[in-house]
Amino acid sequence: MNIGVLGAGQLGRMLALAGYPLANRFTFLDTTGHPSAGIGDVMIDTDRKHLEAFLEKVDLVTYEFEHLPVSLVQAIEEVKPVYPSSEAIRVCQNRAEEKALFDRLGIPTPAYRLVAHADELEAAVRELGCPVVAKSVTEGYDGKGQAVIRDPAEAAEAWRAINHPQLIVEAFVDFEREVSIIAVRGRDGEVAFYPMAENQHVDGILRYSIAPLPDLAESVQQTADGYIRALLDELDYVGVLTLELFQCADGSLLANEMAPRVHNSGHWSIDGAVTSQFENHLRAIQGLPLGDTTARMPTCMVNVIGREGEPAAILALPDAHLHRYDKSERAGRKLAHVNLLAPTHEALLERVRACAALLPDAPAPRFSFE
Ligand SMILES: Nc1ncnc2c1ncn2[C@@H]1O[C@H](COP(=O)(O)OP(=O)(O)OP(=O)(O)O)[C@@H](O)[C@H]1O
Ligand SMILES: [Mg+2]
Repeated sequence: MNIGVLGAGQLGRMLALAGYPLANRFTFLDTTGHPSAGIGDVMIDTDRKHLEAFLEKVDLVTYEFEHLPVSLVQAIEEVKPVYPSSEAIRVCQNRAEEKALFDRLGIPTPAYRLVAHADELEAAVRELGCPVVAKSVTEGYDGKGQAVIRDPAEAAEAWRAINHPQLIVEAFVDFEREVSIIAVRGRDGEVAFYPMAENQHVDGILRYSIAPLPDLAESVQQTADGYIRALLDELDYVGVLTLELFQCADGSLLANEMAPRVHNSGHWSIDGAVTSQFENHLRAIQGLPLGDTTARMPTCMVNVIGREGEPAAILALPDAHLHRYDKSERAGRKLAHVNLLAPTHEALLERVRACAALLPDAPAPRFSFE
């Protein structure tokens, strides 16, 4: 089976690494001119001339990047199976569509307003009450295209800074922690859920994900499973889907956003789960049985961002697994991640601190259950 992947970054690289044992081959279509997958057959298509050649090579198409023109994915769907569908991309690439779907399915979210003008932004800020987060409805990632507004007088400046025709303005959630739920749905509708992860973001970028959680009530996992199952079924989804949530002090969950793909907060599963998110995505899209999503041991994923540190020192840590993306160093760029495992959460946190000390610029790890 030759799998066509739209996008050619580290997520595609890790998909390929998971697919080689299944005798899958990979052809990547890169539209940015800067592919980094460094694996498989990479076609650079900045001028949109190679789509036909790409489609001739592949048996089915998936993607590792959702900010693609929906018309492109719809055109591909006419020729080859695409999983997840163009409808999943259409909804997940637009925060307004995403929130409308959450509302329709009864999945709670922070209070929000949509605005298309600086004056409307200021009015929404007054209505919701400060602080709020304003976000461009499309194209955002790693906290880009966002501004926290602490006073209605800052609205005009935020509008200029984000510079986008439509924004979503959300009440700023005073959360206890950020969590995510990852699930996978097969072609036959079978669904499997990963244990929820706690995610620490600094300046909008994910730094640490830990799973499973020592203090997560079974009922909270079940609530999250219910939310993501509703989304999967509604979209008739095939593959891995991620839902980012805020957990409040009373244990309740508010949906932040979703991603129609394998996700950084699921990288722990490569070493920490019986079947990784990457393998399960490939199983799902090929109509194969889904693999066991159980965690083997408490696991923490440490992102390596900007500068790499010394690989040998990281590899000297016990039960440390370094996954490098073969990218050059640049401020804010995701270059690698380390998966650390330990028999207890206490021992794990010690290893995480030891690992963070080896990484230039790594923020102090902080988890809600410490
Ligand atoms: N309404 C909110 N209240 C409090 N914090 C928020 C809110 N919205 C976003 N944040 C913070 O900003 C981070 C990034 O926001 P969000 O997930 O919406 O953006 P993104 O740029 O799409 O991120 P990603 O890299 O996950 O794609 C969140 O993980 C959270 O830490
Ligand atoms: Mg996010």
